[in-house]
Amino acid sequence: MSFPPQFLDELRTRLPVSEVVGRRVTLQRRGREFLGLCPFHSDSKPSMNVVDDKNFYHCFACGAHGDIIKFVMETEGLAFPEAVEKLADMAGLEVPKETPQDRERTKRRETLHDVLEHACVWFEQKLAGPGGAEALEYLRRRGLTRETIARFRLGWAPDSRTAFAQSMKAEGVKEALLLEAGLLRKPEDGGAAYDYFRGRIIFPITDRRGRVIAFGGRILGDGQPKYLNSPDTPVFHKGRVLYGLAQAREAARKADEIVVAEGYMDVIALSQGGFPQAVAPLGTALTEDQIAELWKLATEPIVCFDGDTAGMRAAGRAADRVLPMLKPGHSLRFVTLPQGEDPDDVIKHHGAKAMRELLDGAIPLSEFIWRQELAAQPVTTPEKLADLRGRVFRKTDLIGERSLQEDYQDEFRRKLYELRQENWNKLKEKFGNNKNKQSNNSIIQALKVNQIDLTKGLDLAGQKIFLTALLEHPGLIDEFGEMIGKVRFSDPLLDKLRHEILDVAFSDVSLDAKGMYDHLMSSGFDEVAKSLLPRNSIIRATYVFRRKSYEECRLHLNELIGRFGKAQVEAHLADAEQQFAIDPSDDSWNKVCSLRALIASINSAVSLEEAHSGLVY
Ligand code: UTP
Ligand code: MN
Repeated sequence: MSFPPQFLDELRTRLPVSEVVGRRVTLQRRGREFLGLCPFHSDSKPSMNVVDDKNFYHCFACGAHGDIIKFVMETEGLAFPEAVEKLADMAGLEVPKETPQDRERTKRRETLHDVLEHACVWFEQKLAGPGGAEALEYLRRRGLTRETIARFRLGWAPDSRTAFAQSMKAEGVKEALLLEAGLLRKPEDGGAAYDYFRGRIIFPITDRRGRVIAFGGRILGDGQPKYLNSPDTPVFHKGRVLYGLAQAREAARKADEIVVAEGYMDVIALSQGGFPQAVAPLGTALTEDQIAELWKLATEPIVCFDGDTAGMRAAGRAADRVLPMLKPGHSLRFVTLPQGEDPDDVIKHHGAKAMRELLDGAIPLSEFIWRQELAAQPVTTPEKLADLRGRVFRKTDLIGERSLQEDYQDEFRRKLYELRQENWNKLKEKFGNNKNKQSNNSIIQALKVNQIDLTKGLDLAGQKIFLTALLEHPGLIDEFGEMIGKVRFSDPLLDKLRHEILDVAFSDVSLDAKGMYDHLMSSGFDEVAKSLLPRNSIIRATYVFRRKSYEECRLHLNELIGRFGKAQVEAHLADAEQQFAIDPSDDSWNKVCSLRALIASINSAVSLEEAHSGLVY
């Protein structure tokens, strides 16, 4: 006997999967899901995953998957009605009696399938017959073999208003069924029903078992619409079906690989080219149902849409759709095809080997999202970097699975950091002809090693000098930016200016002094920036930077570092000497030596600078 679908839904709502599975298996909660030892194979680590929201259990190890009814059937060896009765008992629900309408609906479905199968054979015969010569020739010209045509059961709908309708009538197939199957249409004015598919190559659409449930029809040559699909019917819901699934299942499961192409011809070309594990949605964005279906066959289905903007946009929509569904071990990967080519073209023009290489180069979802967002707007300013950050993190907000969400966020943080670093390196290339850099950096380095925080010593005047120098020579940020980034600035305006200068330099390597200055003037920093120019005697020295060369400014900044650092190094040295007097060990002696060497190098940097410019600060 069969049960009304509403009743089964009621049962599934009343009884969470975790409750039913939990009677047999000890379950542990993991966020919104549960984990336990799978009862369907001998499990050592918990692989059984139970998701109440989605009404299913799933074993990552053996692939066992189902709802509460299937679970009871399989663990207790019960038939479907027995399992339902048992569950109804648990839920305290009365099992409804089957109505005659229910029975009628089941029967009609069966006959719909019969009619569709019957039509499929009719279309196949038309392609093989004399009227199908032109269509057959078209398919052959597109490279399809007889085997492929047979494998996908391609057919031909003659270019006639009633050829199909007449033929079905003669065979006694009920018109009502043909209308319901979407094979005939009735004009609004009540005239005679006419054929839905006319003058089109027929692509039968099957369910996952291979039963025909609908058709797609392609016009011969050019014309609109290029493809016509059956309307949704009781047995066909466009968003739930994947074209080619029945043919792809076995190969996909074996290889743990399934390719999602955009269209009928792509699936067929892939299959003929040695990739039988190919399917396609039916001209719509990939739906949740379709993704779930794909995941039953492979852990990371490969989205391989056309290399045009429409294809990229469709791939982007698939990415958005899958984010909330992500779970450990399941994702999507993406192939970017050469501009303007679909898989059919790739195989034709470059061969199956090229296709294989493209598939092997499929990028993970996170990388795909990153590249798409980056391509949407190249990062040339700090505002754009911030915008990119916002956009990628809004994507991670969509991820339902907590631990995955964190992994994605980490990944994007790393990528954002690398992007800054990359800009930083370009900056280096642009300004990086620093001859003395090694020796100067070694002072900063030595200060670091000895844990001397010279940023503490940099007073207000020193801070202004540094910022002015960096403003005039953005290239200096490469060498001194990190240190300046750490200084505590007590003046809040100056502090903001510092951050702005560093951010701009990080994200826009092409800015020179003028560009930097213009940027600051136009983003509300005009007053602060101007205040750095000479107005009083304390910062007289800053004026010098207007005229000094890059190299001269560098030397001067190093001198400043030496000056500010020196007092601290001397204090450290005094401590170290005292320490050595108490404990004359190798360690404490080495410390004394390294600090003495540091003072020597600071002195030489300072005297070099003094000799060079005689600058009085
Ligand atoms: P394509 O135009 O890329 O189709 O559309 P294709 O399969 O590569 O066909 P050929 O190579 O030109 O023969 C991709 C898919 O979008 C849907 C179909 O499912 C098609 O396979 N589509 C396209 C429609 O439903 N209607 C249309 O008018 C066009
Ligand atoms: Mn195409």
